[in-house]
Amino acid sequence: MDFSFTEEHQMIKDAARDFAKQELLPGVIERDEKSIFPAEQVKKLGELGFLGMMVDPKYGGGGMDTISYVLAMEEIAKIDGAASVIMSVNNSLVCWGLEMYGTEEQKQKYLTPLAKGEVIGAFALSEPEAGSDATSQHTTAIDKGDYYLLNGTKNWITNGGNATYYLVMAQSDKEKGHHGINAFIVEKGWEGFDIGPREHKMGMRASDTHSLMFTDVKVPKENRIGEDGFGFKFAMRVLSGGRIGIAAQAVGIGQGALDLAIQYSKERKAFGKLISQHQAIAFKLATMATEMENARLLIHKAAWLKDVGKSIDLASAMAKYYAAEAAMRVTTEAVQIHGGYGYVKEYHVERMMREAKLIQIYEGTSEIQQIVISRALLRD
Ligand code: CAA
Repeated sequence: MDFSFTEEHQMIKDAARDFAKQELLPGVIERDEKSIFPAEQVKKLGELGFLGMMVDPKYGGGGMDTISYVLAMEEIAKIDGAASVIMSVNNSLVCWGLEMYGTEEQKQKYLTPLAKGEVIGAFALSEPEAGSDATSQHTTAIDKGDYYLLNGTKNWITNGGNATYYLVMAQSDKEKGHHGINAFIVEKGWEGFDIGPREHKMGMRASDTHSLMFTDVKVPKENRIGEDGFGFKFAMRVLSGGRIGIAAQAVGIGQGALDLAIQYSKERKAFGKLISQHQAIAFKLATMATEMENARLLIHKAAWLKDVGKSIDLASAMAKYYAAEAAMRVTTEAVQIHGGYGYVKEYHVERMMREAKLIQIYEGTSEIQQIVISRALLRD
């Protein structure tokens, strides 16, 4: 077993780290405070190939493996969680979903500009009454011959306002339950497609989250992804892969907070010595670092399983569950180590704590991951 990175992995990690420090760090506090979407920075991420990292170069992607992707994701999330959310949805939900299950025409028309970062995408499964309970889709897509008629509302959609293409899940045949759900590619600007106001979130405030409203939107038949009724499986498979990237985001956020806590503890004095020399702080740092390394190992294993084509459902759920919970603990401790300074914006760790909270909730709550894990354990 070899835990070392290849030269290429190291180069990608370094490039992502440099980009984050040079392009994302300036203004990250202001973008968060004022909910400013990082349009310029996202454009540059696209130009550098960070928005379609794993996509085949023939569709404009970087042709990289999942290990490269999680290494880059960690570096971006370390500095700017919101930018990492935008990157994650485009790479692992939208691009990966289209590459795995799209037709050649769909890949040429939609995947290529998405992978090049010329446009960004969104993934729309959640609804006002179907969050964790994703089989209860109320959005309908009724077969009208050469098109589907799409009606309903989607909620909590990352990139909702800034995306150009949307992967939308909807119920086409209620009688068939989740076997009647389809996934479609929907374009911004189509008649009857409206975008709701931006949500005011606790964290990840620079990433935009919206509701989407569909009223008699005509979706051409050729925009359905996969066979009739494949939509729920499509969503589950894509989310399962996506959770590896979300877990890497969690480690990035947690590690970013840990790095700042280490730095602060080596500068701040109390009771006549640096706080790092007090065991109360040193023990915390040791636990935080161990938790981050644990999470990283789970993530790298899940990424490796995906790259070698093995089943990832259990590994990705474990990685996402553990990394999200660990990041929450680590960022909370980072605030504690900073004392009062941790509670003000200039020191970044309060933002990281708010960012970590979202990781416990989005793309499947921690409880959903526990369900996936326990079902695998209890299966006959
Ligand atoms: N791969 C392929 N198929 C899968 C699968 C997977 N990983 N997981 C489940 N399925 C299939 C099952 O095999 C089953 O198919 P059959 O009936 O043909 O056997 C079908 O899906 C239903 O599975 P379950 O009976 O297990 O379904 P369930 O209702 O009990 O719930 C769940 C499963 C794990 C709880 C699932 O509903 C789930 O993951 N929920 C969370 C959804 C989620 O993450 N939502 C966030 C979306 S993010 C978003 O929309 C916004 C954004 O901006 C990113």
